[in-house]
Amino acid sequence: MNAYSNAIETFDLSRHFGSFIAVDKINFYVPKGEIFGLLGPNGAGKTTTIRMLCGIIRPSAGNASVLGFDIRKDAEEIKKNIGYMSQKFSLYDDLTAIENLNFYASIYGVARSDRKRRIQDLIDQSGLRGVEKELTGSLSGAWRQRLALACAIAHKPPMLFLDEATAGVDPLSRREFWDLIYEMASEDISILATTHYMDEAEYCNTIGMMYQAQMIALASPDRLKDEMPGVLVQVTCDQPLQAEEISDQIPGVMDSAIHGVHLHVTLKDEKQVNNLTSALQTAGIQVTEIETILPSLEDVFINMVESRLKASPQDSFGG
Ligand SMILES: Nc1ncnc2c1ncn2[C@@H]1O[C@H](COP(=O)(O)OP(=O)(O)OP(=O)(O)O)[C@@H](O)[C@H]1O
Ligand SMILES: [Mg+2]
Repeated sequence: MNAYSNAIETFDLSRHFGSFIAVDKINFYVPKGEIFGLLGPNGAGKTTTIRMLCGIIRPSAGNASVLGFDIRKDAEEIKKNIGYMSQKFSLYDDLTAIENLNFYASIYGVARSDRKRRIQDLIDQSGLRGVEKELTGSLSGAWRQRLALACAIAHKPPMLFLDEATAGVDPLSRREFWDLIYEMASEDISILATTHYMDEAEYCNTIGMMYQAQMIALASPDRLKDEMPGVLVQVTCDQPLQAEEISDQIPGVMDSAIHGVHLHVTLKDEKQVNNLTSALQTAGIQVTEIETILPSLEDVFINMVESRLKASPQDSFGG
């Protein structure tokens, strides 16, 4: 294995499909043993980035290294040394869990003499004990996902790519899944994960926020929150939807979004709180409380994407 300190380093990494730019000159690095979270709306370019890093598709311009290997020159070495749980991971439904593990262990080149032992370890490590002889097709979503992870790491890869690995799985199972990921990171396994769940993004050492093929922010979750411009207030009122419409008309309001039963409003500064309160009251909205709050990652995400949308309103989601 190569000596490397950064599991991933990219240099203006880009990918075009015809004239369409899916990934546009992105630069980031992932130190060994860290968890990097790639966030962004649908179509932002996350999966395309992963597919380049895994050596599945070639970059159109720029370059990257994974585990010290050049993605242009050493794609085969990379494929052998990484685990990849793709957005639509494939397990064989008509095989039992243990048969799937056996199949993946063999295609990932786990020596026949080690395979039995390794599979038993994987079953224990992933908490699959008890369901290992069941048909994969009959397992629930959370079990299938643990099994897919176990298959992806059958060959003990030092780098793992997770592309929306927990989509559609319940919150408790997602947390347990992330406990496994944390454990792996503590054993110096490097991880790049994409997710649309902001609670999962909180687990990452660094977050890269992609939007329309570009990397628009790169920092730890705490720093992203600290650096969110303006002051965030939470409005509790009787008509949050109408309150949102009204807020958007007020000068000094940078952004507003519904969060559950509350309205979150980003103001230019604290002085705007009075303007907001009186505008809402004038419109006949019963305001119970307006309080300054710390932004969540969800606030940061929405704020970043919406401020980009405002800057070029012809853009829309979905790539
Ligand atoms: N093989 C391809 N040919 C043409 N366009 C493609 C191809 N693969 C991806 N794209 C386009 O590139 C853009 C980025 O796609 P990508 O799958 O990387 O997005 P994503 O960030 O993973 O989105 P999601 O969150 O929905 O998974 C999209 O507009 C997509 O349609
Ligand atoms: Mg994707």
